[in-house]
This record gives sequence, structure tokens and C-alpha cells, in this order.
Amino acid sequence: MAFSPDDLLNAFAREAKALPCMEALEALRVKYLSRKSGLVTELFKALPGLPPEERRGFGARLNEVKTAIEGRLDELAAELKARAEEELGRRDRIDVTLPGLPPPAGMLHPITRVRRQMEGIFRALGYSVEDAPEIEDDWHNFTALNLPENHPARDAQDTFYLRAPWLLRTHTSNVQIRSMKKHAPPLMILAPGRVFRRDDSPRHSPMFHQIEGLAVDRHLSFAHFKATLEHFLKQLFDASVAVRFQPSYYPFTEPSADVVVSCVFCSRKGCRVCSNTGWVEIMGSGMVHPQVLRNVGWDPERWSGFAFGMGIDRVAMIKYGMPNIRLHFESDARAMRSLL
Ligand code: DAH
Repeated sequence: MAFSPDDLLNAFAREAKALPCMEALEALRVKYLSRKSGLVTELFKALPGLPPEERRGFGARLNEVKTAIEGRLDELAAELKARAEEELGRRDRIDVTLPGLPPPAGMLHPITRVRRQMEGIFRALGYSVEDAPEIEDDWHNFTALNLPENHPARDAQDTFYLRAPWLLRTHTSNVQIRSMKKHAPPLMILAPGRVFRRDDSPRHSPMFHQIEGLAVDRHLSFAHFKATLEHFLKQLFDASVAVRFQPSYYPFTEPSADVVVSCVFCSRKGCRVCSNTGWVEIMGSGMVHPQVLRNVGWDPERWSGFAFGMGIDRVAMIKYGMPNIRLHFESDARAMRSLL
């Protein structure tokens, strides 16, 4: 017989050497062991044609070869499976010694930072921090501040009106009135808070933040007023800033002044932040109008004081060189972080 069981086993051994995957192994199993057409089956079919003396040995050997092929295929299957699992383990392995990713840390909003800094400067001078409602009545927001009905200065404030007499406060100056009604003089307060105006542009947001200050005592003069604000602005920006008081008009102060500082970005050379003027306007201010004191029942012959109000968002824009007030309200942590 030209083709013996051992030839078959040798042929199988050669083919089984380099099996790349389970599919190749299954193909090999079919090729040799398929009941209908496998090579082993084919060889069994030759059995009846052999001379009787060879038949027994041939049959016995062929059965051994068949068992050997089956055993080897099972072994190879186990090897392939183990290799696949090892590969998977290598690919998905987690190196527990690698340092972890730090969780992104939060940070204080520029408005919060600036507000806290402002509060800190005034607390050190003895001021206390006061609060007042954002939904306010006409009297506290306007009338008591010497802005009677039909006063033209009311128009400048673009008020959001609610059901009368309520409105969204247009400035933090309402805190002046509420604090003076609540406390007895002397009084030194600071009041940060949200204010609302019907105004929406790259430089204006319908909601923004102001901080109001008020000092009332015996004999407070314009000199106290100037010295306090100069001290404040030099602490807030830099000791080298130049401070200017420009005549202005507010119904609740007399005289009134707008306070401007030399641009902290360009040292007065002119840039985007100061619109090329070299100066930036920081706040409105002045000596408390006698009528305002009278409106809360305080005697202007006995008491005098000064007041000021400024936009916190605006100061933050100037301090951090922000191009757009809306950046404050877009919750983009990357943009915020890049400023500080
Ligand atoms: N309330 C004014 C505004 O919103 C700012 C202001 C000006 C506040 C003068 C004051 C002040 O206390 O004295 O534009």
C-alpha cells in the first residue's frame, strides 16, 4: 500500500505545524476527520481491498493514527485558545502603577475674585457688607434716591418693570436707602449684587454685577471721599495707577464725580481695553445729596457722607483684559482659566 496510516500521520503533522487561528484548525479537522470525506475515512475505505494478513495491522494502526490526530487537534485548540486569551490580556492590560489623571480643579469666577478683593479692601477700612432685594419697589430704587417720577434720569436706566410698584433693581444704590432705614448713623457699608437693565451688547449684559459703597458720619468731606477711593483703586489695581475725578451728574450725589484710572494695560499709551484713550472709567460717585438723607429721616445738617457704585463685571474685564462681557456668563472654564 503506497499510502499508509503513518504517511497520513506525517502529512497531518506537517500541516498542523503553523496554524494561525481556530478557523485553520477547524478546516484541518474537517480535512482529516470528516466522517464522509475525511482522509482518515478515505483510508478506512481501502481496508476491504487489502490482503487479509495486512488488514488487521493496517486497521489497528489506522485507529491509533485517528486517535493521535484527534488528540493533537484538541491540544492545538487548547493552545490557540490560550494564545488568544493572552493576547487579549496584553491588549487590555491596566498598568496600576501609572499615575492617575488629576481631576480638573474648579476655580473662582473672575467676578467672585474681584468682588472678594473689593470686599477685603473695604472691610480692612471698617466697612460691613450689606444686602438688599433684587426685586425692588420704585421708591427704594428711584424716588428715595432723588429720582422722582418723570425725572429724566430714570430713562437712562432701561428698567425691567414688574407689576407696580415692583421692578428689577437697576443699580445697587437701593442698598443705600435700605441700609440707612435699617441702621442709625454713622454707617459704612459695601453692597455687592446683581442688577438688571434692558441692554444687551458686547459691552452690556441685561444682568450684571455692581458694588455700592456708602459712608455717612459727622463731618465727612470731599477729602475723605477722595482719599478713600484713591486708596481703594491703588489697592485694587496697582499703587502706580493715576486716579482722576471728573465732574459728573447723579441725582443722589452733589457734587458728583466719575472716577477714572490710567489704563493698567498700556500705561496710558492707548490700547483696546481703554479704547485708545489711556484712561478707563471705573465708577460713579459723589457726596450724598442732602435730599437723600432727608428721605430716610437723617438730618443733613448733622450728617454727611459719600457714595460710589461700580460694575464688578466691568472691573474684572479691565483687570483681566477680557474682550467681551458675555464671557463672564458662558461658563467656559477654559476661557476663564486662560485669563487668570
Ligand atoms: N447707581 C449708579 C449707576 O448705576 C452708580 C453710582 C453713581 C452709584 C454715583 C453711586 C453714586 O453710589 O454715588 O450708574
